[in-house]
Amino acid sequence: MTTTSLSTSLREGTHDSHRLAEQTPFIRSLFQGQLSLEAYREFMLQLLHVYQALEDAHSQQRNHPLLGRLHFPALFRAEAIRRDLDYYFGGRGWQNLPLRAATAAYVQRIDALAREWPDGLVAHHYTRYLGDLSGGQAMKRVVAKMFNLSAGEGLAFYDFPQIADHAEFKEQYRALLDTLPVDAGAARRIVDEANLAFQLNRDVFAAMTKMPD
Ligand code: HEM
Repeated sequence: MTTTSLSTSLREGTHDSHRLAEQTPFIRSLFQGQLSLEAYREFMLQLLHVYQALEDAHSQQRNHPLLGRLHFPALFRAEAIRRDLDYYFGGRGWQNLPLRAATAAYVQRIDALAREWPDGLVAHHYTRYLGDLSGGQAMKRVVAKMFNLSAGEGLAFYDFPQIADHAEFKEQYRALLDTLPVDAGAARRIVDEANLAFQLNRDVFAAMTKMPD
């Protein structure tokens, strides 16, 4: 009997979700360099709330048998996003801005998992950070060009100063996923959760092309 590794299950099991995310109007506009600065910075604000929830949960679960293995502060994005927001808003004016309902739902899901099924956070970790280390890097070039960020300011979100080789890190990450103590049933649930994570991301993208709630 052959068993599929968790990294392969995640990659294959979210293939369709990934394609749907790439095809959302918001992501397409971003890649076509057609977003306004207002839209982009509001998107970054949504991401801040998501990463803050995820990173708080991971920091609190440092000793958890699964999540502890994925505790990589070098991946954390919240602090970098705060720097970018300071740049785009010219100060701290973003701090009291409301988040969208879709973002609140995403944050609630992360918080619920932290309380009820921390193993499920593996799926959220995978979906965001492996994405940031992959397509996120192409996004950096688009954003730099779209907003003429020649000095590199406003791009901290895309930079992982402590990760020299992204491809190598991703390989190690996948290898690590495959050593987690996860049985076949739990692996299926984690893949389902990753598909939900993609859905929650798509909901945030969709909200960004609508008027505030
Ligand atoms: C147009 C937008 C996007 C492009 C061009 C893109 C591109 C890519 C590419 C080229 C890879 C493969 C990297 C590799 O094998 O080393 C990848 C992987 C990945 N992307 Fe995206 N991506 C996009 C959007 C997204 C979004 C919105 C998410 C999630 C919110 C995401 C999550 C992921 C994940 C989790 C992986 C890792 C797959 C794996 O190897 O298991 N991507 N992306």
